[in-house]
Amino acid sequence: MGTKTFNDLHQRASVASSDCMRLLDEAAIAAENPTQLNKYNFPAQFRALFMCHGLVQQQDKIVDRSALTIYPCSLVLNLFRRVKLKVLVACEYSGRVRDAFIKKGHDAISCDILPSDSPGAHYQGDVRDLLNNPRGYDLLIAHPPCTYLTIAAEWAYKERHEINKNLDPNKLYGEARKQAREEAIKFVMDLLNAPIKMKAIENPVGVLSTRYKEADQFIQPYEYGEDASKKTCLWLDGLPKLKPTEFYPPRLAEQANGKGYAFRWGNQTDSGQNREPPGDDRWKIRSTTWQGWADAMAAQWG
Ligand SMILES: C[S@@+](CC[C@H](N)C(=O)[O-])C[C@H]1O[C@@H](n2cnc3c(N)ncnc32)[C@H](O)[C@@H]1O
Repeated sequence: MGTKTFNDLHQRASVASSDCMRLLDEAAIAAENPTQLNKYNFPAQFRALFMCHGLVQQQDKIVDRSALTIYPCSLVLNLFRRVKLKVLVACEYSGRVRDAFIKKGHDAISCDILPSDSPGAHYQGDVRDLLNNPRGYDLLIAHPPCTYLTIAAEWAYKERHEINKNLDPNKLYGEARKQAREEAIKFVMDLLNAPIKMKAIENPVGVLSTRYKEADQFIQPYEYGEDASKKTCLWLDGLPKLKPTEFYPPRLAEQANGKGYAFRWGNQTDSGQNREPPGDDRWKIRSTTWQGWADAMAAQWG
């Protein structure tokens, strides 16, 4: 095949590939399930390819004569392309998402202004230094700081003299806090505008839902095998929604004042407050990515 023909085919296959990627992902997940396709004695990726090919043929709307050539080529190209993704995990000191992708055979690096808590490829500095890296990344997963994005302490956006509480000298209030919020939103926009094809931004429920857009999905640690509750938003670009992997059952906690019972998880008191006592590393404990989320991201997006 001549270079020109190959390049042309490659380009057409790439255009057609986003549907294929989704189908291939679904097929790959199904093929890992031993109850399906187990009569074939093929490696999982081959079974995925066969199944995917069947799915493609069923999609009348996407099958035309040229697709008959393009899709098989696209599938093969994607199989090779999937072997190694270049993954940038932004705002991560724990290394959890990075290491989950590396475990799956990908080329992943974490980045934080803090050092990494676990050894591995890590850029200590501002992630914006990396966003336009000419070597490029295929996938960006970002956990930007939520201090000024959450709506948990809206009272602190009033001016000091309007707040009827003891003020913490190390915290921002009023106009200074509003300014910090604008900078935090701008930071997220810089991540979203990065020239990276697949992106996921993770953050608690907060102002991004009104200032950017509604989250694409909400996830909970207890849907991914963790004994914890923390409703968290994901904004996705070029990625499928994360599918729950394993439900962690709650305990039933009796509520004060005869208010009946409520479901609670390990990180919650019976009344629903966060269990971790105040302390220097409280923010770190609370913001470390749950291992169940990291593993699901690598298994489903890798
Ligand atoms: C909410 S924490 C996320 C922690 C993450 N879930 C983990 O498991 O490591 C936000 C992190 O963003 C980092 N950060 C803040 N500004 C940054 C920047 N400009 N570039 C890279 N990291 C930044 C902070 O140091 C902090 O560790």
